[in-house]
Amino acid sequence: MKVMETTSARGRVIQPSVTLELSAKAKAMAAAGEKVLNLSAGEPDMPTPAPIVEAAHRALDEGHFGYTAAAGVPPLREAIAEDRTQRCGVQFSGANVVVTNGAKQALFNALSTATDPGDRVGVPLPYWVTYAEQVRALGCEPVFIDCPAATGFAMDSDALDAALAKDLRVMILNSPSNPTGAVWSKQQLGSVLDRIAQTDALILSDEIYEDIVFVESGHVAPLSLMPDLASRCCVVSGLSKAFAMTGWRVGYTVAPLDWTRAMNALQGHSTSNICAISQQAALAAVGRTDLVAPMVEVFRARRDRCMVHVDSIDLLSAHTPEATFYLYLDISRVLQAEGLPDDVDALANWLLDEHKIALVPGSAFGDPLHLRLSFASSDEVLDEAFARLAAALGG
Ligand SMILES: Cc1ncc(COP(=O)(O)O)c(C=O)c1O
Repeated sequence: MKVMETTSARGRVIQPSVTLELSAKAKAMAAAGEKVLNLSAGEPDMPTPAPIVEAAHRALDEGHFGYTAAAGVPPLREAIAEDRTQRCGVQFSGANVVVTNGAKQALFNALSTATDPGDRVGVPLPYWVTYAEQVRALGCEPVFIDCPAATGFAMDSDALDAALAKDLRVMILNSPSNPTGAVWSKQQLGSVLDRIAQTDALILSDEIYEDIVFVESGHVAPLSLMPDLASRCCVVSGLSKAFAMTGWRVGYTVAPLDWTRAMNALQGHSTSNICAISQQAALAAVGRTDLVAPMVEVFRARRDRCMVHVDSIDLLSAHTPEATFYLYLDISRVLQAEGLPDDVDALANWLLDEHKIALVPGSAFGDPLHLRLSFASSDEVLDEAFARLAAALGG
């Protein structure tokens, strides 16, 4: 019988998520009884705050069991619009909002409806792994723009100019950044936006870590700096990270009306609305910075704890993360050291297999010189992980 090709060229191009795969391997090792410390996952280790969980219980009791509008129930869309208006100083209404299955679907809706095959999409490097894969899955070409470690991961302006000269259809921005934990200052972001404003590129601003920020200056929203860009900017955010709600799957887009109409239509023919119970829970969360603040303080203390550990290991260094729960370990000296693995993937595998620590290799983010450590774990786990790293790499 003829063997049928079941995938298209576009289907074959998509690679699985390295971070999800690595996390799954670490979990499988732990399930088999190995004492693995899994610092690879991108999710808070705290429970969702009680008022949000209680709202979900009420939603079950009240019987929110049916379909909702594909873009989400009106009160939730209005609440998200109001919250975004306060953050950016740009007037939004519920009509600008589509509530999505996490920020991942928000990005996919936005890219799917803004690009045609062959378009170029600017992606800051190092990049969150999903950007490149979504861009390629849509038949577009990622154009990577260097954000070098030496400048605290600010975008290199020559690299940005070179990318913009290639006629980008969309420019992805991600401050605060996964994987680096860097926050762009007003000045750094302003210089990037000035350049983009001189072109016809659309902006896709992923601000999912906007509330987990440790620097006093806080997160700078692109639209708060340059409100005029609102007519060509789609903001992506969601509740997964700040509210410890990864499994509830609540993300959203806030975008111009024509872009929103297209995303709403796409979602209506793909997933329809997100879970109705999650929407009621989200309604109890949006705007509740008081629920987020205690978790941010926990992350800040853990970040400081990790930096003390890093300083005690000669072969490691790290940019102090200004946000997120990621520590981006510079391993360039490790790779040059005698007797240790000499490439980032081999190093990550060796650390997992031999020392039972799961970290994400920078290759997943287009960067061979770093490992990402998630400090969304208890102090005890972090202390033990650094003790193992010190033993593996020499103190
Ligand atoms: C930068 C960035 N954007 C978007 C997402 C997706 O978040 P969600 O779980 O809401 O889909 C993640 C999750 O890891 C992320 O790190």
